[in-house]
Amino acid sequence: MRRKVTIVLALGLVLLLALGVYLTMGRGKVKEEEVAAFPSPSPTPTEAPWEGDEVGRLRESMVRSQIEARGVKDSQVLEAVRSAPRHEFVLPRYLDQAYADRPLPIGYGQTISQPYIVAAMTELLQIEEGDKILEVGTGSGYQAAVLAEVTDEVYTVEIIPGLAESAAKRLKQLGYTQVQAANLDGYYGWEEHAPYNAIIVTCAPDHMPPPLLEQLKDGGRLVIPVGPPGAYQSLWLVKREGDEFRYENWGGVAFVPLTGEH
Ligand SMILES: C[S@@+](CC[C@H](N)C(=O)[O-])C[C@H]1O[C@@H](n2cnc3c(N)ncnc32)[C@H](O)[C@@H]1O
Repeated sequence: MRRKVTIVLALGLVLLLALGVYLTMGRGKVKEEEVAAFPSPSPTPTEAPWEGDEVGRLRESMVRSQIEARGVKDSQVLEAVRSAPRHEFVLPRYLDQAYADRPLPIGYGQTISQPYIVAAMTELLQIEEGDKILEVGTGSGYQAAVLAEVTDEVYTVEIIPGLAESAAKRLKQLGYTQVQAANLDGYYGWEEHAPYNAIIVTCAPDHMPPPLLEQLKDGGRLVIPVGPPGAYQSLWLVKREGDEFRYENWGGVAFVPLTGEH
């Protein structure tokens, strides 16, 4: 009997150790979505604990402590995240976390990305004034708004009809008239407006989508996480030079999967 108890206790200990190793794996990598790890939404909306100047203070603190401190330097990008009202893109129940250092649920099992990853990916795009940009994965519309703070021509596509519709409405209401949004499968880009100076993909396919490479202008840049769903992916910066493509790996990220039949 005592032997049985000892064996059960030993097995329990091994299981606990294995769980500990599993939970700590991946710490220190660039983490993004972590959708499944978030607590389920609270049943009642939280009132914004701040108004007016307080929003500006929170946004400035986000830019300095989360974005500049991690090495984003491009002044256009810093100005863009200083200007875009992130609190307008989160669900009311998450208003008090709008400027926190984390992604947040936006419904349909999707997320608005962490502020740092939005800024870092925007910086990688090396946008110049007048550039035409395509975003794949509109979500809340926040990334599109940040892009629209940097350039005047932004196209964004979203595969979930409910998100595509609400983001388009939100962007319009906030005055981002330079953004055109559509309910499309972004694996195929948005052929009608191609070619683009830059394409950003905010969901992860398990392979590089050929249509996105084809829709880049000569000299164009593509920033995209590629890898298996439910695991870490690699963030790639692809530069087109004529018919050649140069690939740079920017390390581990974790995005929601790019969905659809391909
Ligand atoms: C991390 S969320 C995007 C966050 C968004 N950029 C923002 O600022 O809120 C990824 C989005 O990609 C969308 N998505 C997934 N597969 C897609 C596809 N094939 N085409 C277009 N959008 C897709 C998801 O529905 C989701 O809204």
